[in-house]
Amino acid sequence: MKSTRCRLPPGPAAPTPVQSVRFLRDPYAMLAAQHTRFGDAFTLRLAGMGALVMVSDPEGIRNIVAAPPDVLAAGRARGILDVIYGTRSLLTRDGDEQAWQRRFLMPLFHRSHVTHGQRLALEATREAMATWPTDRPFPLVPRLMSITTDVLTQKFLKADRDESLHVKELLHAFIDAAHRPLTFHLPQLPSKVAVGPWRRYGRARDRLDTCLRELCATRRAFPCTTDGDLVTALLRADRPNGAPLDDDTLRDILVVVLGSGAETVTYSLAWVMEAVLAHRETADRARAELRDVTEGCPLGVDHLPRLPYLTAAVTEALRLYPINPIVPRRVLGPGFAVAGFSLPAGVHVAVNGFGAHRRAVAYPDPCRFRPERWLDKRPAPYTWVPFGGGARKCIAAYFALNELQAIAASLLLAEDLSLVTPAVGPGRLLGDMVVPSEGTVVTFTSRNRLGGSGRFTPRSRR
Ligand code: HEM
Repeated sequence: MKSTRCRLPPGPAAPTPVQSVRFLRDPYAMLAAQHTRFGDAFTLRLAGMGALVMVSDPEGIRNIVAAPPDVLAAGRARGILDVIYGTRSLLTRDGDEQAWQRRFLMPLFHRSHVTHGQRLALEATREAMATWPTDRPFPLVPRLMSITTDVLTQKFLKADRDESLHVKELLHAFIDAAHRPLTFHLPQLPSKVAVGPWRRYGRARDRLDTCLRELCATRRAFPCTTDGDLVTALLRADRPNGAPLDDDTLRDILVVVLGSGAETVTYSLAWVMEAVLAHRETADRARAELRDVTEGCPLGVDHLPRLPYLTAAVTEALRLYPINPIVPRRVLGPGFAVAGFSLPAGVHVAVNGFGAHRRAVAYPDPCRFRPERWLDKRPAPYTWVPFGGGARKCIAAYFALNELQAIAASLLLAEDLSLVTPAVGPGRLLGDMVVPSEGTVVTFTSRNRLGGSGRFTPRSRR
């Protein structure tokens, strides 16, 4: 159904600042309210994006993700992320350079690398958990961030321990400074106003950039001989235009792979843990499955493919709590047809993953956390889209899911890891992600044993 005159779907009448603040405070609640009121297509007006058409029916989602790049642009639609990831990586670019970077990076996340990623994830989790506080509540998110960054720096930098630690600290400081509401939403000010959060942001960015430039200079002079070092591989890459990659582009690619890679897995994992731990029967069943499979041995990569219930719980948590409920594209020319509307050039149109995941036709009793629904079922096309779709789908979807599952399995084996809050959520907006507002506060009692093997005893009481 194609209409000739360009027009936008209906949407809330509140002015842009009001809609933006509502979205910032509780994105899931706002999306749920608009979905109930307007259905599968509605228009939001958000600061930094203008008119944003949200689409949640499978046919509309297919139209969006399958549209050619000269009709809908993904990189340009992600402009709000420039403040963190710069303008030169595949995340925020379109065109030939984006396509080349994507082709170059995709093999690094191929299935053949997954087992190595999982092994790193299991080791990093085991090491980290041994240092966690016991018998008092603490937010899980920073601890998870540390684990996921370890996995990525070890996998892709092949750096020694001190080098990895240094990169990790600078990366966290930078991302934290960039995510402050003022710096994130008014990024143009740092060059003009060197005070408060912008000053912190500028300093953190300079420190990280210097460190990454030095790393590139070292790898240029002394290429890493270990297979899989991303910097050496990028420096040696055979590029279509014959020119080597410049340091600024290298910096942006590294921040995307290490920074966005760690953040996305961390926050998705935080939602998974909240959902599982808040549902006693799910946690019990996942733990029983883990005990059956490991039979008292330490958890290893061979056990991970034999955990169908845990896989179902992860799939279900990503359905109810997709960290990127808005997967945007920018309409480049007039007349893009979606959901019965013909959109004008310049507006944004997005896959509304939150809405798509809560349609009753696809998911009976859609708001209930019910991992069992996945035990004998795979998602129908365009109904489960936490990683987006089409030619710009997440390059690391399979790798990330497997890493996430490995860490979740390790955490759940600690029988006395429990959630402090009685229920899941709510979420708040952090950059373009929805994250648990309280940082997933848990307690961990000193009676724990990892996998019943007796090999794990929390030792610190910080
Ligand atoms: C559970 C974890 C993750 C989630 C939920 C996630 C989600 C997403 C989403 C929604 C997109 C946009 C897709 C689209 O526009 O259609 C995306 C793109 C991307 N993701 Fe992920 N991601 C995750 C993990 C990772 C990891 C671990 C890495 C790298 C180490 C990564 C690297 C990227 C890159 C480079 C893109 C841009 C691809 C392009 O535009 O061509 N992601 N991700």
